[in-house]
Amino acid sequence: MKNMSSPFTLPNGSILKNRIAKSAMSENFGTRNHAPSKGLINAYRVWAKGNPGLLITGNVMVDSRALGEARNVVVEDYKDFDLLKEWARSVDGTGVHIWPQINHPGRQAFAAINRQTVAPSAIPLKMGGISKMFRVPIALTEDAIWDIIKRFGTTARILKEAGFTGCQIHAAHGYLVSQFLSPRSNVRTDQWGGSTANRARFVLEIYREIRRQVGADYPIGIKINSADFQRGGFTEEASMEVIRLLGDEGIDLIEISGGTYEQPAMIKGDRKKSTIAREAYFLDYIKKARKLIKTPLLLTGGFRSVSVMENALEEGHLDVVGLARPFCLYPNLANQIFDGSVEKFEAPVPKIGIKLFDKIGGVELPWYELQIQRIGKGKSPKVELLGILAFIFSLKSLFFKSFRKNR
Ligand SMILES: Cc1cc2nc3c(=O)[nH]c(=O)nc-3n(C[C@H](O)[C@H](O)[C@H](O)COP(=O)(O)O)c2cc1C
Repeated sequence: MKNMSSPFTLPNGSILKNRIAKSAMSENFGTRNHAPSKGLINAYRVWAKGNPGLLITGNVMVDSRALGEARNVVVEDYKDFDLLKEWARSVDGTGVHIWPQINHPGRQAFAAINRQTVAPSAIPLKMGGISKMFRVPIALTEDAIWDIIKRFGTTARILKEAGFTGCQIHAAHGYLVSQFLSPRSNVRTDQWGGSTANRARFVLEIYREIRRQVGADYPIGIKINSADFQRGGFTEEASMEVIRLLGDEGIDLIEISGGTYEQPAMIKGDRKKSTIAREAYFLDYIKKARKLIKTPLLLTGGFRSVSVMENALEEGHLDVVGLARPFCLYPNLANQIFDGSVEKFEAPVPKIGIKLFDKIGGVELPWYELQIQRIGKGKSPKVELLGILAFIFSLKSLFFKSFRKNR
């Protein structure tokens, strides 16, 4: 396990104690008022004891008017500062890094839980029978764009002050930053749309604003799509161009993923047999990225076998291995890699047999969220948990939030 257990020094001097990262998973486990719950904080205590080098939290929203899920944590001011400090302290004594992932959902915001939806352009999501769960977004004005950029910086700064050891910008999976990057969702004709450089302006300004607010030495990472895997979307070539620009700016860690709500490649890969066989969905991309930039690289999506992770590191394609779903079923995952007790971390795909929902992860994602909630409540993960329960849980959380919103 030489490579997996070896420390990694980021360009700014921060040290990850090994090469294993828990990738961001929206826990949907904040309080009704979007503070971190005690259970959420406890889940991070459990994960920290498992000894990965880095824990990236589920997405923390920059604006309470724009939620991805009903129980997202939102950080826009100091009102929950004590709880944020407690969350940051969940890793105390372990040497594990904890970075919040910072996000704005843009048009991927359920109508039931948001009063208004904004995006780069007024282009709705195309999700077949469930498109109506999302509003046609309002195109952001110049002032509103700068307000959101500022919010990313403010959220990162407050979280830094609370004790988080770095942060990650969520620029992947079809959320707002990713919407700006994609010509399918961004048809603006001003300085924020058109060329790749213009579409990348939003993420670059977010990076600069965070840097301005957190200082030169603080680690800032980003999660970005290798591609959207949609016709007319964000291409591999454009993605390469954007990571090059981010590398030039001095970003500390780039995590590669892919897909959107419309095309959820982040949890399925490109579905080619060859991709499934070799596990890591976006390996081909990262090999090319490695040649293009010097910035440290983290790859997430599909890793299950220790030998595959070890091999990817040994070949030098990446610096840190990211895993998400396996952490929900094996909270002690890094320790189990190092003591050799597990070779393959199986992560099932629960379904309910309704194609529309199964296809987009409408059962799978809440099923894994429920596993996180079990961990936070001091219970063991439960592989035999029924998919239908997870589906009901997700509908229930939307319904209750919608009820509160409309009162
Ligand atoms: C329940 C759940 C919630 C997720 N939430 C997020 C999120 O908030 N931010 C993010 O970047 N990715 C999110 N993802 C995607 C994962 O970080 C990861 O990219 C994907 O699951 C592939 O990795 P895996 O094969 O190791 O699970 C989520 C995945 C799951 C299963």
